[in-house]
Amino acid sequence: MKRVDDFRLRLGNQELVPIVIGGMGVDISTAELSLEAARLGGIGHISDAMVPTVSDRRFNTKYVRNKLAQYKFNVANPDKSVVKFDLGLLAEATKLHVSRTMEAKRGPGLVFINCMEKLTMNAPKDTLRVRLSAALDAGIDGVTLAAGLHLGTFSLIEDHPRYNDAKLGIIVSSLRALQIFLKKNSRHGRLPDYVVVEGPLAGGHLGFGMDWAKYDLAAIVAEIHAWLVAEKLDIPLIPAGGIFTGSDAANFLEMGAGAVQVATRFTVTHECGLPEDVQQEYFKASEDQIEVNQISPTGYPMRMLKNSPAIGSGIRPNCEAYGYLLDASGNCQYIEAYNREVAAHPEARKVKVFDKTCLCTHMRNFDCWTCGHYTYRLKDTTRKNEDGSYQLLTAEHVFHDYQFSTDGKIALPE
Ligand SMILES: Cc1cc2nc3c(=O)[nH]c(=O)nc-3n(C[C@H](O)[C@H](O)[C@H](O)COP(=O)(O)O)c2cc1C
Repeated sequence: MKRVDDFRLRLGNQELVPIVIGGMGVDISTAELSLEAARLGGIGHISDAMVPTVSDRRFNTKYVRNKLAQYKFNVANPDKSVVKFDLGLLAEATKLHVSRTMEAKRGPGLVFINCMEKLTMNAPKDTLRVRLSAALDAGIDGVTLAAGLHLGTFSLIEDHPRYNDAKLGIIVSSLRALQIFLKKNSRHGRLPDYVVVEGPLAGGHLGFGMDWAKYDLAAIVAEIHAWLVAEKLDIPLIPAGGIFTGSDAANFLEMGAGAVQVATRFTVTHECGLPEDVQQEYFKASEDQIEVNQISPTGYPMRMLKNSPAIGSGIRPNCEAYGYLLDASGNCQYIEAYNREVAAHPEARKVKVFDKTCLCTHMRNFDCWTCGHYTYRLKDTTRKNEDGSYQLLTAEHVFHDYQFSTDGKIALPE
């Protein structure tokens, strides 16, 4: 039986170990994690979710404090349309995050940025253009377009000097989404360099409805692969979602995939941004503690641990400080849900909101424990300490386990 190391992903003139660590916002896939993937010859992702916030934590900048000070007058106002991002500062934060990461890159692999269209930031087109251009300016190797159909995204950057030299990819969950993306972007002079096909077992937001369990990653990959062959389009496919062992990965590579994208196994590594107490929650989780729910104000279903503090929390919307999910008119589904509960309980000092969550605040504070379907298997990938906690892994250990293991085996740490 073949193993992942028998394959290589060819992107332009580069040959890579066909392992991609997927983007995990907000700073769960840290620069450190992405740099390990690159050092080991694969591809890592940083995320451009809430970059000003991430920059404050990473570089001690004051973007969030200053934005809150600027819009403090609006905190009690349910209308958030005035709360805008300063595009110059957004570019500055993105350049800082990306350039510092790229300066630290060693080894033969690549670092990409995961860029989510659903981060509409009260001015969807302008903020997306700025985030993409700034990342390209700062030398990112590639951009993975995520959480959205990205029908107009290539047009936002087609004049950028690095438009053709940077690697550009898109995440889809169906052949139909890929067909629409290719049709809409066909006027902009290039194809994507790779397509991530994300199935229903992934972490984060899902590109499926609540009937996600009906879908099967291998079937979607096979359908897209057959269509690309029929259309004579040579674009590497990168399946993602539930690929838990090196053998799972090798099976997809034998089917013709160019690489695999994985994430859940890396959530319990030292290099991952999750605090260690949260990582222990991931280790401890049982299968029935993992759910797909609809509390994300983006409107996409999201997978998470049922004991996430974000669920049911009724905090006041924090859009003056954050506001990453405000649509073009300053609305967010959480604001509506929160105001409804406040109106229904006028005497209450604190309300509970169960149908939506303030995703910006809770992702920022690592209180929304989004995870892949197989998180309950993480405990089988390590050793238990004497105090009952689980031993964290290194990203190198997990990467090499994917690269070299066979027969469905998982190597435990020393
Ligand atoms: C904690 C966590 C956070 C994630 N956040 C994002 C994200 O911000 N954007 C995105 O496109 N995908 C996100 N994903 C999806 C991963 O990038 C990846 O495609 C998927 O989880 C792979 O499946 P696996 O976790 O079963 O290996 C996230 C996944 C996890 C586990």
